[in-house]
This record gives sequence, structure tokens and C-alpha cells, in this order.
Amino acid sequence: MTTAVGEAPGKILLVGEHAVVYGHPAIAIPLRGIRARAEVAFHRDSAIRMTAPDLGEFDVSMEQASPRLSPLLGLAESVRRYFGEESQGLRIHLESTIPIGRGMGSGAAAAIATVRGVCAALGRRLDAMQVAELAMESEKVFHGNPSGVDTAVVARNEPIYFVKRKPIRGIEVKRSEFRFVIADTGIESPTADVVEDVRIARDADRARYDSFFWELGSMASVAREMIRTGSPEELGLCMNHAHAVLQNIGVSCAELDHLVAAAVEHGALGAKLSGAGRGGAVIALVGAKADPEALDSALRLAGAQSVFTTVLNGAPAP
Ligand code: PMV
Repeated sequence: MTTAVGEAPGKILLVGEHAVVYGHPAIAIPLRGIRARAEVAFHRDSAIRMTAPDLGEFDVSMEQASPRLSPLLGLAESVRRYFGEESQGLRIHLESTIPIGRGMGSGAAAAIATVRGVCAALGRRLDAMQVAELAMESEKVFHGNPSGVDTAVVARNEPIYFVKRKPIRGIEVKRSEFRFVIADTGIESPTADVVEDVRIARDADRARYDSFFWELGSMASVAREMIRTGSPEELGLCMNHAHAVLQNIGVSCAELDHLVAAAVEHGALGAKLSGAGRGGAVIALVGAKADPEALDSALRLAGAQSVFTTVLNGAPAP
């Protein structure tokens, strides 16, 4: 029996997290070195069953799956219904190299790989926007009220400038000197909980929080210009400033602050937490003169569980 495959990369937020929930812009970039992969095969009966070894689940139906996996089974069901193929039984095998709960898009990538795999098995095609919209269904279960930035960047697989409910724009990257190091604290942080805490804090002091969000959104617009014009030093300063604002919002933690300080101390042009915060990862911009290996070791010494590099460039060749 032939098996169809759907894949999707990880992602990381460069600037604008949290502010994006309140309608401000954010910049997100794909992490192409890590990915989710769904293999989909037809089955005789009309059931959908899924295996996800990373989650310790094997050949489970919607009723048997854990709350982590059941939204993906629901998503596969929706894709099948979308194409009027409700009676086509499916077996889905999902694997991912994206760490879970670290702001690297594990949920969005799993959802998009599943949508793509089911589409491929049914011999159908959806464009990136349609894929992202369908994947939002399971993101809503994972994240409560997601802005949609994760599914948008993962589906497009290119750096994006994202504003909620507005057309998504890719970012032109003329030069390739934007090299980032990503350092994972190893701390799993549920995005929905942090986003909810920020909402409560904002309700208690709206003027203060709205000015933080406005500042972060403005930085996203400025950062886009810095990427377009090739100004890494300025982008680094912008990242440092964004981290300070995120600290004020209350979403950093000692481990993240420690990694940010270590990155800047060891030659990064700038560094900040990325994603929801209170765990997850730090993103640091590596200067042309910095020694990436020294930075890698410094970050590991400062507590990073894993460290990897990504280069900012445009959409991959089709
Ligand atoms: O999933 P994470 O950790 O990358 O967080 C997503 C970014 C937030 O702005 C905090 C939430 C959202 O829905 O945009």
C-alpha cells in the first residue's frame, strides 16, 4: 500500500510575541532544520487511527487518544470531510523532531504535517493559506486563543510579517548575514497559560500593558526594515530591547534571562526570549565576527539543553 507524506518545519518568533495577540505585528521565521512528518495510508474501514511515538501513543482512535493527540485526529477528520471523503479510513503515523512546548511551533507543525499528509493521501491540494486555516482548528484546542502566527509561518515556510486578521506578508531578505542561535531552556511552558496570565495582568493595568504591546509591535515594524536593508547591529539592539519589554510584561524567568545575558556576553549582537516565555527558548543574533562554537558552548554552560543555528533566508525553492 502506498503511503502519502506531509511535512512541516518548526518556527521561532523574532519579535512581537504577546503583542500579536492584541493586533500588533510580529515577525516569525521558519526553523527548517527541525520538522514534523506525517505518513498517511488508506485503511479498509472508515476509522482514522493515529500513531505518535513522541507522545507515546500507538494506533489510537479519537476516543482513545490523549488530549494532546485528539485535536490532530479531529483535524484529519475535518480534512477528510472538507473533501467529502468521510468514509475513507486512514492510518496516520506522526513523528517530529521539534521540542514540545518551547515556542518552536511543535503544535502548528504537527497540525500542518497532518493536514498535508491527509491531502496527499486523498490526492488533493490546498494552498498555504487554506492549510493554515484548517490547522488553526487544532491550535485553538492547544492554545485557547492563538493569534495564528504559528500556523501562518509554518504553512508558508518563509519569514513573515504577521498581523492578526490581515493578509500575511513575506519578508524580503536581501543578505544572508542574519545568523541566529537558538538555545532551549528545556523548560516546557504551555502557551495558553502564559497568554492567559498576560490577559489578566493587562485587565488590571490596561494603559501600561497596551504601551508594552505597542512598543513591541513598533519594534516588529522596525525589525522588518532592518532585515530588508541588512542591518544586523541595529536588529541586535532591537532584540535586546524587546527582551527588556517582555521582562516588564512578566513573561521571562531566571533561566531565560541567564541565557540572554550569556549570549550577549559571548558575542551575540542581541538576544531575547522567543514565544510565550516562562520557559521555551532564547533567540540570539550572531555577529559576523562572533565565534558560533564559543557561543554554543557558553550557552550550554549557561544551562541550555540544546543549541542550534539557523540562517534567515527567504522561501526555499519550490
Ligand atoms: O507558541 P509560542 O510559545 O511561540 O507563542 C506564540 C506567541 C504568542 O504571541 C505568545 C501567542 C500567540 O498566539 O501569538
